[in-house]
Amino acid sequence: MMKRLGILTGGGDAPGLNAVIRAAVKTAIYEYGCEVIGIRDGYDGFIDEGGILPLGIEEVRGLLPRGGTILGAANRGNPFARKVIRDGKETVVDVSDQIIDGIKRQRLDALLILGGDGTMHSAHELYLKGAPIIGVPKTIDNDIGGTEATFGFDTAVTTATEAIDKLHTTAEAHHRVMVLELMGRDAGFIALHAGISGGADVILIPEIPFRFESVLAKVRLRVERGYLFSIIAVSEGAKPMSGEQVFSREGDEVYVPRLGGIGQVVGEYIEKQGFETRVTVLGHVQRGGTPTPFDRWLATRYGAAAVRLAVQGKFNRMVSLRCGDIVDVPLEEAIATPKRVDINDDAVITARGMGISFGDQ
Ligand code: F6P
Repeated sequence: MMKRLGILTGGGDAPGLNAVIRAAVKTAIYEYGCEVIGIRDGYDGFIDEGGILPLGIEEVRGLLPRGGTILGAANRGNPFARKVIRDGKETVVDVSDQIIDGIKRQRLDALLILGGDGTMHSAHELYLKGAPIIGVPKTIDNDIGGTEATFGFDTAVTTATEAIDKLHTTAEAHHRVMVLELMGRDAGFIALHAGISGGADVILIPEIPFRFESVLAKVRLRVERGYLFSIIAVSEGAKPMSGEQVFSREGDEVYVPRLGGIGQVVGEYIEKQGFETRVTVLGHVQRGGTPTPFDRWLATRYGAAAVRLAVQGKFNRMVSLRCGDIVDVPLEEAIATPKRVDINDDAVITARGMGISFGDQ
């Protein structure tokens, strides 16, 4: 019998987190008469003073269209490697035992963990230490294994597509090449989906290493055909065949290296060949704002399904979308292989067939 349920949001925010929280709270209270608490700022709430927030129907009112997360998020929140200041110095500590104690102290029968790939890994580790964990897949990158979709992705693609639409008008008016750098880490889903939906001429993604000369050839070909502008959608993780990914910040024990800058590299190359070029980095705009109806729909179904799993005591599992149905998969399956663009699938074939260049041919 589930009496007390905890919810936390790990890693970066994504549109739809609040919709999951709302659905989980309503289902837990209305359907199962259960008490719900939220843990603030990732796992920090188990450790920090005032980190626990009772979640009732009143607390989740009006949350459906709200981006961000009412619980707060923490990128440096891995309980097995948490950055803290000790004696004035930064140090990395394993606080997983404190989290396990916190779960016990709060008398939680289940803990819903909303997060991305990294968060699902640590959730599984916590399960192995005895925590009653259920995962809910969140990320704009759509790169979590075991599910066809994560919430947040559709909103990011919508924002990125709108950006391409807006760049089109200036590109055409000024006869320019417009480069748009998009998020996604090592997965090219955002650039691929937005690139196709926005009508980009070149799409560069991490899964298909590119040649600068091929990108240039596409821009030239368009000019020869009388199209004096081009739009290039570049995933932040895209890399040239002859080089490496571009980072704006190195990683350390806590933070992964920060991708960023490939758009500028591509833009500078094209401009040097005589084509006026501008670069836009869309950045965190992709993570912000109100979730799309699809993301609200998915987030709501995930939140409710996660509570049903908790009631059945099916821990160490993640809710997942398969062929339109919400199912659940073992966390091991979700974390085994991160999801990447299948370069032989219909989307890539369709794009190539329509003359979109991936910079590889
Ligand atoms: O994983 C989501 C994401 O937005 C990535 O697309 C991006 O590379 C990263 O997070 C940015 O992280 P931060 O918000 O820590 O800069």
